[in-house]
Amino acid sequence: MCVNIMQITVTDLDRHTYEMGLPVTKKTNVEHKFNFIQSPALSSLDELLNDNDNRGSFDFAFIDADKVSYQKYHERMLELVKVGGIIVYDNRLWFGTVAMPEECVREAMKPNRHHIIEFNNFLAADTRIQISQVPLGDGITICWRL
Ligand SMILES: C[S@@+](CC[C@H](N)C(=O)[O-])C[C@H]1O[C@@H](n2cnc3c(N)ncnc32)[C@H](O)[C@@H]1O
Repeated sequence: MCVNIMQITVTDLDRHTYEMGLPVTKKTNVEHKFNFIQSPALSSLDELLNDNDNRGSFDFAFIDADKVSYQKYHERMLELVKVGGIIVYDNRLWFGTVAMPEECVREAMKPNRHHIIEFNNFLAADTRIQISQVPLGDGITICWRL
């Protein structure tokens, strides 16, 4: 299969995180297709949504940022990703703690665990997507936009 990538938009609060990946990005010969936006993700997504041409124009999205805001990212991604496109959410297992009794979970893990369980339940019930939960790394949820 041959995929012609038009553009890859990356948003992060921290430019250093983006630059860490640049040596690998440079080897792909598509470095010129990367558009980095240094900003809170919510502002970046709202900015993208302000341009109607962006709505339903993305084929794929990968979300790996502050776990508190995933629900807000989700609503925006559903506007930006085309029907038939894919949205992937990272850290869905939160190091296995989502399946542990609360009393066995370290205090430091508890706040994000709570948000992640809540969002996992939301995704499972969301009729706008079809999901597959994959136990890869810290767990990813692949969502197919219906
Ligand atoms: C675990 S790192 C993931 C980086 C990248 N996905 C990877 O796997 O290499 C999480 C990143 O989310 C960024 N981040 C956290 N909160 C954010 C927010 N509200 N808006 C944008 N980026 C955020 C952090 O700066 C950090 O670079």
